[in-house]
Amino acid sequence: MTHSEKKSNYQLLLAQLEALLEGESNVLANLANASALLNQALPNSVFTGFYLFDGEELILGPFQGGVSCVHIALGKGVCGESAQTPKTIIVDDVTSHTNYISCDAAAMSEIVVPMMKDGQLLGVLDLDSRLQADYDAIDQEYLEQFVALLVEKTDWNFAMFGEKD
Ligand code: SME
Repeated sequence: MTHSEKKSNYQLLLAQLEALLEGESNVLANLANASALLNQALPNSVFTGFYLFDGEELILGPFQGGVSCVHIALGKGVCGESAQTPKTIIVDDVTSHTNYISCDAAAMSEIVVPMMKDGQLLGVLDLDSRLQADYDAIDQEYLEQFVALLVEKTDWNFAMFGEKD
């Protein structure tokens, strides 16, 4: 896929997300549909989904893919590192990344984007690909926009997740 094809795919994805979020702010519904949208748009994915911050650690949220780890401490794994910094992290080869938590042997590369609102950590968006080095600066740019839109349009009511103070 050329860079310009990749950008057009992401522009379509952002338009689809905007349409999905129109008039809907429920956090579970929006995260569930967002993970399904990413799974459809990015065919090399083995995991597209969210880990949510409960005030202490990251807990598995809505996702598409295989059974995954449930609890991730801040700083641990690519997700915990992205949540703690908070910065987007791209790992080209998960087998040579020391701070990596393996949930699915089919995952070869990963990108994690932190989700923040008013300086507070909400969680992370996590994508894993069956291909090595599948994510680059274009993915980062558009996935950060994807997360910004999702954060803005969603009512972050965490009561249902048992958020800790
Ligand atoms: N690989 C992640 C753990 C989550 S799974 O990829 C779904 C990590 O290192 O944080």
